[in-house]
Amino acid sequence: MKSKLPQIQSGFATRAIHYGYDASEHQGALVPPVYMSSTFSFSSVEYGGDCFAGVANGYFYTRIANPTLNLLEGRLASLEGGSAAVVFGSGMGAITATLWSMLTPGDDIIVDQTLYGCTFAFLSQGIGKFGVNVRFIDMTDPANLAAAMQENTRVVYFESPSNPNMRLVDIAAVCEIAQRYNAKVVVDNTYCSPYLQNPLLLGADVVVHSATKYLGGHGDLTAGAAIFKDAELALHVRLYGLKDMTGAVMSPMDAHLIMRGLKTLALRMERHCENAQAIAELLEAHPAVERVYYPGLASFPQRELAQRQMKRMGGMIAFELKGGIEAGKRALNAMQLVTRAVSLGDAETLAQHPASMTHSTYTPEQRQAHQISDGLVRLSAGLEDIDDILADIQQALDSVHAASSDDHKHTMQQHFEHQQSQKILESI
Ligand SMILES: Cc1ncc(COP(=O)(O)O)c(C=O)c1O
Repeated sequence: MKSKLPQIQSGFATRAIHYGYDASEHQGALVPPVYMSSTFSFSSVEYGGDCFAGVANGYFYTRIANPTLNLLEGRLASLEGGSAAVVFGSGMGAITATLWSMLTPGDDIIVDQTLYGCTFAFLSQGIGKFGVNVRFIDMTDPANLAAAMQENTRVVYFESPSNPNMRLVDIAAVCEIAQRYNAKVVVDNTYCSPYLQNPLLLGADVVVHSATKYLGGHGDLTAGAAIFKDAELALHVRLYGLKDMTGAVMSPMDAHLIMRGLKTLALRMERHCENAQAIAELLEAHPAVERVYYPGLASFPQRELAQRQMKRMGGMIAFELKGGIEAGKRALNAMQLVTRAVSLGDAETLAQHPASMTHSTYTPEQRQAHQISDGLVRLSAGLEDIDDILADIQQALDSVHAASSDDHKHTMQQHFEHQQSQKILESI
């Protein structure tokens, strides 16, 4: 990896802005140049051969390595507390290439029961075809993992908080159990970003991200990353594993946009957290709402764990309305500022319905078994003025509440009329 070591090693925001770049080596350019080149010329045939053989440390083809991608990889490794990173064309590219590289036929992987829909599809329908045994357990209780571990368990995989229902996994406890069996722990840290949580520092081996979300932060790219505690495993995924073969490669322009996003990650995450806290409190106090899942609320069942392993409580919220799925749809359709869209971590506040959208890869029975209720609404708190977000959510919930009160009055009226006509009939 060619990137220069940082001269300033200090805080998170400093590293997010400066890590690995020395402007004096690039004509003084403040912003790192973007190497939009698919191939690189060789000074001689022999040098080209040495690059391919790994004897010379030169660039030769962007699917294998590129200076802009390498700079981003160094920066992400620094922010997560890892020793190396590999970037990909999407979060799913990062997840599938990493797991495929780490598993071989006959291996066992234990996975938490709630996952992003496409990760669930890959694990429940994809990787099993290649002779890998996949088992889903409820990892919110580490004792379940301890009971499930086997000699051939190679990987333990989970999200925390999980998408969409905000269940947490005790990262340190799970890592301690996995280590006893020499199994590697892979954590999807997309919901937190490295600003809020660093699983590698809690004992995990690999962190994966959908960089499409908070890392990019502006909803204008699709990208992924895997960050490794051990540089050798990163090299395996990069060269001898499936990164080069799946071809899930990030564009250098997207790497540039992510590095632009990283410059404000610390600021943005603070505001996402502040806004989410205020939204969660409004939701919890509203009579139309049945239940809110947000680690910043006193009612959150795993609040102590959240405070232990997360710096702040994050920008993601899930909630259920009293009228279930129909009320949820009504509320989403009534929102005017809050945008009805999947994805998360953008400047815009986004809301969606997991059962029919991001988690429609689960069957209804699987959703029930995996604790993803059909009435759940997922909300990604954006960066707009909090008063405007709250006003929009308030009016949407008020309209649902008014409609359900009208429905209730209508039902009562029908009931009363039915009783009256019964009495008249009886008296005839
Ligand atoms: C938690 C989580 N992991 C992974 C992914 C997949 O990322 P991508 O859409 O960039 O492939 C997503 C996408 O929504 C996600 O929410």
